[in-house]
Amino acid sequence: MSQPSRHGPQTIALHAGRHASGERENSLAMFLTSSYTFDSAQQAKAVFADEEKGNVYSRFTNPTVAAFEEKLAAMEGGEKALAVASGMAAITTTFLSLLSAGDHLVLSRSVFGSTSNLASGILPRFGIQVSKVPLSDLSAWEQAITPATRLFFAETPANPTLEMVDLTALAEIAHRHGILLVVDNVFCTPVLQQPLALGCDLVIHSATKYMDGQGRVLGGAVVGKEKLIMDKLFPFLRNTGPSLSPFNAWVLFKGLETLPLRMERHCDNGEKVAAYLASLPALTGKVHYPGLASHPQHDLARQQMRRFGGILCLELDTPARAHAFINALSLATITANLGDSRTLVTHPATTTHGKMAPQDRASAGISDGLVRLSIGLEDADDICQDIRQAVEQLPS
Ligand SMILES: Cc1ncc(COP(=O)(O)O)c(C=O)c1O
Repeated sequence: MSQPSRHGPQTIALHAGRHASGERENSLAMFLTSSYTFDSAQQAKAVFADEEKGNVYSRFTNPTVAAFEEKLAAMEGGEKALAVASGMAAITTTFLSLLSAGDHLVLSRSVFGSTSNLASGILPRFGIQVSKVPLSDLSAWEQAITPATRLFFAETPANPTLEMVDLTALAEIAHRHGILLVVDNVFCTPVLQQPLALGCDLVIHSATKYMDGQGRVLGGAVVGKEKLIMDKLFPFLRNTGPSLSPFNAWVLFKGLETLPLRMERHCDNGEKVAAYLASLPALTGKVHYPGLASHPQHDLARQQMRRFGGILCLELDTPARAHAFINALSLATITANLGDSRTLVTHPATTTHGKMAPQDRASAGISDGLVRLSIGLEDADDICQDIRQAVEQLPS
């Protein structure tokens, strides 16, 4: 049952993409099958030739995966979502579907470590030229354009720096030059930011993060106009196979059902914890969070995001102090993931962004003392006290 868009975000999250198998099940059925049967050789021929609708093979058609795609597209306000195996599979599928040898990609310096490495280390081997620009500097994006530029890729807010770009303005620049704008919306999810409504062409998700929300499975998706997705990205998925497993799609479908509720709590906690930490004398000027007035792009965050999210960063003086702080936390778990129901802590310079060239990391604004906290759904006071006691243990 598709959901008309007149409903609110939580209703859409609960009802969009629901399909009954005929067994009267109330929860989504999981189709664990690699292939599908045909009544006759003629029917098989017709389905393969796209003359008759039907499932063929789960690398590119699976009802559970399709249900996840339908729900996500409705939540993101997009015509079509294409689910893939991970967030990086979504980014790779997008790049390799839309770029050819001789084309040029412009992306922001501050992006997830593997995205940066894919752009710098792998795309050039296929003849794709890449320029990296400071995320928030609109004139740098425009100046980087060459006659071969086909794509802009931005991550906003960026992982882990929380730097942002004005998406409406960036889309305007891209479209004036006939360029497509792709936005990684992982930190916000459709609940907090809808890039398509701001004029962007494709939205990338690592569903591994908030969409699952409990650190269980990997998944990814690209959302946008049906024609672009089906003409360009779908053939890449069909023929190269970075497919989402039906089991993971089922987990993610169930995760999406509670995403709006959970995001509100992540935001409530993020705002409370950021305000508390910013009030501690030992952390004055060292807390980065889009919801704090001290964030250099706080006004843009207010305008572009519905709320400020659950990720915040602390700037400590040295890597040794960052490690000491992380080790002193007792509630927060040390891990590379984010968007979990539990509070997680990461030292980007030596983990998620550790394989970037040091100069790339520095130009992205990721200092060696930066600590990323993914604020969970616990009681905010408990998170605050855990961080406070860890700060108090730092040698002066
Ligand atoms: C902003 C962002 N984009 C993409 C990815 C890649 O997602 P995945 O781990 O699902 O491949 C990550 C992972 O941390 C991320 O933080």
